[in-house]
Amino acid sequence: MTNPPVLLSGIAPSGRLTLGNYLGAIRHWVGRQDRDDCFFPLVDLLAVTVRHDPQRFADRCRDFVALYLACGIDAQRSVVFVQSHVPAHCELAWIFECHTPIDELHRMTQFKDKSRRHAKNVNAGLMSYPVLMAADILLYKATRVPVGEDQRQHLELTRDIAQRFNTLYGPVFPLPDAHIAATGARIMSLADPSKKMSKSDSVDANIVTLLDEPARIARKIKRSVTDSESVIRADPTKPGVTNLLNILAAATDVGIASLEDRFRGLGYGALKTEVADAVVALIEPIQERFRDIRSDPASLDRLLADGRARASERAARTMSEVFETLGLIPRLG
Ligand code: TYM
Repeated sequence: MTNPPVLLSGIAPSGRLTLGNYLGAIRHWVGRQDRDDCFFPLVDLLAVTVRHDPQRFADRCRDFVALYLACGIDAQRSVVFVQSHVPAHCELAWIFECHTPIDELHRMTQFKDKSRRHAKNVNAGLMSYPVLMAADILLYKATRVPVGEDQRQHLELTRDIAQRFNTLYGPVFPLPDAHIAATGARIMSLADPSKKMSKSDSVDANIVTLLDEPARIARKIKRSVTDSESVIRADPTKPGVTNLLNILAAATDVGIASLEDRFRGLGYGALKTEVADAVVALIEPIQERFRDIRSDPASLDRLLADGRARASERAARTMSEVFETLGLIPRLG
């Protein structure tokens, strides 16, 4: 019997989890749990590339993990853990950093974007973080990485790093593929649909978070920016309407073309009402489960300890192979 493919995907606990994270990523993790060998780290070390609040950080991380579970991740079938609990991520990242030209990191769109937004804190971690992401993936020899569109470039870098390592030292790493869905892979901001919905956006009207009250979610969607044409059609010149169609398509699993048909002759009000209803129907049950899971932090921490043990075991196997391949003295005992 062949082993099932290894799937890995993670989220950085910065800001608040959004509808974009759910539709672009988590939703696609849930259904693979019966088929693949799944790893879902909370990638906490990524969040310290920008200034964070140490007083509240651990609780925010627990919120994120509780949301993974509330969205349908099952910690029995899948390995749910915290990146910083498995130090091998950083060890492998160091080795990969020594094999990644700085130019390649400077070219990353997210690095350019984040260095503009955090101009006073363009630190080395901000630049090298895609290398840590490559380590997250390759440490488990994952081949399937379900992510949103914005991670495509990082996955290409991950493949380049794996390929370079294999060419220099021998075939250690499989080449991972980004699994990017046809709908929902790039949910845009509600009030400014020219930019991505981002969990660290400080303008509340731009984002729907998974913990927003249902009435608030509906209000934000109803106030979202559209255009003056009043025709419901997916079209690059109509980013607001296209975004709403995309959200509805992803939330209800109905194709964009049939939504366009159904809304022919109707106005934006009808579309917004339907999007709001669909999003609330999706998020409300997640919130109920979240409240239940979050009310027992001790169980959550135990679950993470178990995830850490399972992840560490797999990570140790890869690291022995990497160290041996690099000619380091084996660690005995
Ligand atoms: P992050 O934390 O920014 O986002 C988590 C996941 O959500 C997706 N996403 C979106 N999808 C659709 N529309 C949006 N507006 C939207 N915003 C975010 C992202 O594509 C991502 O899949 N570097 C990663 C985290 C990471 C990772 C990994 C992912 C670290 N190590 C290993 C996969 C495998 C990041 O910052 O994602």
